[in-house]
Order: sequence, then C-alpha cells, then structure tokens
Amino acid sequence: MSLILGIETSCDETAAAVLADGRRLLSNVVASQIELHRRYGGVFPEVASRQHVLSILPVISQAMEEAGVGWDDLTAIAVTYGPGLAGSLLVGVNTAKGIALGRDLPLVAVNHLEGHIYSNWVDPVRPGDPPYQGARLSEADFPLLVLVASGGHTELLVMHDHGRYERLGGTLDDAAGEAFDKVARLLGLPYPGGPAIQQAAEGGDPERFPLPRALLNAPEHRFDFSFSGLKTAVLRLARELSDPVPVADVAASFQAAVVDVLVSKTIQAAEACGARHVCVCGGVAANRALRAELRKRMTLPYSIPPIWLCTDNAAMIACAGHYRFQAGERAGWDLDVIASARLA
Ligand code: KG4
Ligand code: ZN
Repeated sequence: MSLILGIETSCDETAAAVLADGRRLLSNVVASQIELHRRYGGVFPEVASRQHVLSILPVISQAMEEAGVGWDDLTAIAVTYGPGLAGSLLVGVNTAKGIALGRDLPLVAVNHLEGHIYSNWVDPVRPGDPPYQGARLSEADFPLLVLVASGGHTELLVMHDHGRYERLGGTLDDAAGEAFDKVARLLGLPYPGGPAIQQAAEGGDPERFPLPRALLNAPEHRFDFSFSGLKTAVLRLARELSDPVPVADVAASFQAAVVDVLVSKTIQAAEACGARHVCVCGGVAANRALRAELRKRMTLPYSIPPIWLCTDNAAMIACAGHYRFQAGERAGWDLDVIASARLA
C-alpha cells in the first residue's frame, strides 16, 4: 500500500492531504486565506506566506489525524515546488523537507500544474464517504488532452503517459481565472472573481452583449488563448452602460465568452491530437457554466473533478506525487522552489 502525505502552499491556500494507493483520500484539509486577502482585492504575497507559516503545522497535523495514520505509516511526502508565489512555496517546501529529514521519509517534488491534472485521478469522494464505485481514469485512456484553467495558467497539453507532457498552447496574456478576477473587480464584485461572476451571472442574459472570442479562428494560434482584449471590452462596455451597469447581463456575457473559447479550443485540440479522453482541471473548472457547456458539446469521454478538487488542494499534489514516486523520483535536500516552473 502507498500512503502519500501531500503538501500545497503555492498561492493562498494552506493544504495537506493523505492519499492511499494514489486514489483514495483519507484526509483533505484546506485552510483558505480568502477572507484575509479580500480587502486587497487579490492575493497579497507577503501576507500569504506569513499566514502559511501560521497554518502549515496545524493543517498537516489535522490531515494526519483525520487520516488516522502515523509518520511511520507514510510512504513519502509530496510537496509543490512551483509554479506559484516564491514566499508561499518556500513554506511548504521547507516544512516538507523538515518532516522528511526528521522522520526519514522520501521527498517528492510536484509541479502545481501537474497536481491540477492529477485532480482527475483522485477518486471523487470525500474522505470518510463510501468507496467510489464509478469509472476511473486509467493508462488505457492515454493520450489525454488536458485543459488546465486556473488563476495563473491556461494551457492545453497532451498527456502521453504519467509524467510525459506535450504543450500545445496556452494563454498569450491573462489566464482564464485572472480574467474572471480582473473583470469581477471592474464590476465591483469581490475577490475571488470566479465564484463572484458565476453568482452575479445567474439570471443574466449571456447573449445580451456579444463579446470577443479572441483567437477562435486564428490558424497560427489554434491552441493559444488571449483574454486581455475581452477584459478591455468589458471595461468599455461597463463605462458605456454606466448608471446602473446591468451587472448580471454583463457577467453572464463575459462568462459565456470565456467558456465558449475554452470549450471550443479544447474540442479542437482533442480532435487534432487524437486524444482518447479529455481532462479539464484548475480553479476555473469549478465554473458551472463551463461544466454545463462541456456536457452539451463534448463528444469524447471527459473527466472534470468535483468542485472541491478543482481549486487548490493537496489531494492532487499527493496523487501526482504518488505517480512520481512510483517512477522512482526523489527530491534532494537541495530542492528549491521555482516560481515560474513549467510542465512542458
Ligand atoms: O487553481 P486555483 O485554485 O489557483 C491557481 O492555481 O491559480 O484557481 C484559482 C482561480 C481564480 O482565478 C478563481 O477566480 C478561479 O480559479 N475560480 C473560478 C471559479 N472558482 C474559482 N472561476 C470561474 N468560476 C468559478 N466557479
Ligand atoms: Zn492552482
């Protein structure tokens, strides 16, 4: 049996999870800092790293306790080394190193984006719930086409095998989640913008304002994205319409534009690379409109994690760590954070 303790501190959630056999979650603890950063309208890096320092040990203890396991039971510790905020990553990496050294456990370094991808490999049931009986991803589903849409990244990748990725394209400017966050701010909605826009868009008319779908038919950028023009278009629209801005319709129209581009390009990329299966992940995968559009338009089989596994968590880091460990990977004591780490 494999028992991996995952640790994640790349941005503003302090998270720890214990995962059995690369599938079964025994615990999954996430201490969110959202309330702390809301007054700044975004993540304040210095505040984030200080809060990680305060939260990390209680979060790890809680994850170990809820899993009902001791240090000697663990197979390895997996920790996010990047990409993310350097000061935040350092807290997770140094804590993981300390425990690994003190308890004589192997350490595995995990790329945060790879973590998001593996959120699709974790059984989608909460710790303590009855065992998952549904369909699972397996090696027979390779090659997978992956869309990672988070606050920092929007990438289309082919996953040929565990740990083997080929990048097809990505955003040329803002990430999809970043666009949600920026548009929310200009509409006067709170941080984080994704859930706020989703809520504001409920009851809004997504067809009222036709907004740009950048690069949708750009042959040289088939698998790239651009969201900064959309953000500017919303800004212009909000200025034109002021007094009062029909927030629900603007939010719904913006959300529809992002979702349309994400789904269209994912489908095109999956066809182009002959994927057997599609995986969607990252914080933006929590979006209900995106999930509905995928249900409507995807013809290939696809996976999307439950909402609680879409945003940052350590279950996905433990899962990616499980496969890296199986492949024989071990991090040394000189493991350093890489704020702009790439996957492929
Ligand atoms: O993956 P994640 O938790 O952190 C990063 O790795 O960046 O993603 C956070 C991003 C934020 O930009 C947030 O606004 C967005 O995901 N997000 C959403 C939703 N929930 C979170 N975007 C759209 N709809 C949502 N329901
Ligand atoms: Zn993330």
